[in-house]
Parts: sequence; C-alpha cells; structure tokens
Amino acid sequence: MVYTSIELTCGAGIATLTFNRPKALNALNTILLEEFADALEGIKKDESIRVLILTGSGEKAFVAGADITEIATLTPLGAKKFAQRGQDVIGRLQALAIPAIAAVNGYALGGGCEMALACDFIYASDKAIFGLPEISLGVIPGFGGTQRLPRLIGANRAKEMIFTGKHLTAVEAKEIGLVNKIFAPEELMAAANETAQLIAGKGKASLCAAKQTLNQGLNADLATGLAIERDAFALCLASQDAKEGTGAFLEKRKPVFTGGLND
Ligand code: CAA
Repeated sequence: MVYTSIELTCGAGIATLTFNRPKALNALNTILLEEFADALEGIKKDESIRVLILTGSGEKAFVAGADITEIATLTPLGAKKFAQRGQDVIGRLQALAIPAIAAVNGYALGGGCEMALACDFIYASDKAIFGLPEISLGVIPGFGGTQRLPRLIGANRAKEMIFTGKHLTAVEAKEIGLVNKIFAPEELMAAANETAQLIAGKGKASLCAAKQTLNQGLNADLATGLAIERDAFALCLASQDAKEGTGAFLEKRKPVFTGGLND
C-alpha cells in the first residue's frame, strides 16, 4: 500500500510511524486509519521490530482528533461504524505485541489523545496539549477515550476532562499520570529514540511477555494476574534470549539478544 497520510520508517529494531496530514493537524480520516491499520500489520509481521514510536508531522499537532469534516456528515448508523472502525484500529495498536511509545509533539485531542492512550507510555513536548473535547462538538469520545482514560488516570479526573472538554498542558497531563516525561520540542524525538533503543536492546520474547502480562493483569484480579505472570515467566525461561541473558550475566559480559518470538 502506498501511504499518503502516514509515514513509516524502520531501522535498528525501531519502527517510527508519523501521522502525516499536517494541513488538517493530522486528523484521523478514513484513509489515514486504513493506512495506519496496514502499517500495524506490517510491523506485526516484521520479526526485527521491537519498539514502535508514534508521532505527528509538523510543529503543531500529534493528532487533533478524528476528522470533523467526516463526522459532520455521518448518519447514526454511519457514526457507529466510524467509531467501530476507530476502536478496532486503535485496539490493534494496543494489542501490538511490542511496546509502543507516543511521542506527542503538539495537539493530542479527541481521537489523537485516544491514540496516545493506546500506547504503552507517552513522552510529550512542552508544547503538547491533551484533551477529549468531543463534548464541545455535542458528542462524546468514540475511539476508546471514555474507557482507557479512566483506567489510566482514575474515573473522577477522566470525568472532569470529558465533561469540560478542557485542554491540558503537558505539565498538567504529567501531574495526573497521563504523560511520563516532558522534553523541549527539539529534544522529544531524540529522547523517544533513546528509550526505544534501550528497549530494542532487550529480548523480544521477554518484552512481549512483559507487555502482555501487564495488560492482561490490569484487567484481572491480583490472583489471576499473578498466575498470568508465573506462566509468562516460565515461558520466557524457555526462550533462547533467557539462556543468553542469564549466561551473559554469569560470564560477566553484555547479553546480545537475537531471539525472535518463536525461538
Ligand atoms: N478534523 C478536521 N480538521 C481539523 C481538525 C479535526 N479534528 N482539527 C483541525 N483541523 C483543521 C482545521 O479545520 C484547519 O483547516 P483549514 O486550514 O482548512 O481551515 C486546520 O486543521 C488548522 O486548524 P485551526 O485553524 O483550527 O488551527 P488552530 O491553531 O486555530 O486551532 C485546534 C488548533 C485547537 C487543535 C483546533 O483546530 C481544534 O479545536 N480542532 C478540533 C479538535 C477536536 O475537537 N478534536 C476532536 C475531534 S472529534 C473526535 O476525535 C471523536 C472521537 O473520539 C472519535
């Protein structure tokens, strides 16, 4: 597929996907969502990729939301399909086996905030703005915001954001646990890449097991979560990377993880 609304670059175990409709502040329209879904499939199949970074092109926006020109024309049935499509694609992002980092360089509003919420953590530039402003359009978040935001920052804070539609600065977003770290705009991608490199140097099987265990455990009671962890730990130990990691420690050298998910 030829991409017109996203850009994808891959190298050294890191895929960087850039939302690329800067004139519309990278708003999520049908074409962009199709291209995004296609790119995720490619990333899933590429054994060499261990981390994904998402960011937006231009200086103003990560993603300013779902495309309002499309939303404005939807019938209720069309709107349900539109939300289903968005939820499905963003669900595939969350379900990606490898870690995903959102590098939020500007507006992350509505569907853009929902996209970032489906990543494993968020780095932000000090110019970033977060919000779920759908209430001001007479609608509500439709790409997972009413569900993922309260799970991350708590119900009452999420309600305040969703009922008011207010924009949050990067500092405010960090205070409530939405953002992990804040950087100067020109340092954001270098910082995201540095962390991605650190992650990409680890074993793929253990990275994916850690992500899966965390995500599954968050939706389970503690005893179930601990059982998931035990099984995943045991499975990791059978991997080539576990032999390399423990062996390297005992031999007092740095491990070189080359295993894939099937080794
Ligand atoms: N959809 C379509 N186009 C958008 C857009 C969006 N979500 N956000 C911005 N744009 C377009 C603008 O229409 C404008 O286009 P033109 O130049 O052709 O007029 C261009 O991007 C630049 O935007 P502005 O001139 O508005 O830029 P600004 O700096 O004055 O304001 C902004 C920036 C505060 C982000 C403002 O654009 C804005 O409020 N955008 C909408 C944000 C929003 O409501 N997002 C939620 C969308 S609904 C949703 O996402 C539902 C869901 O959960 C699935």
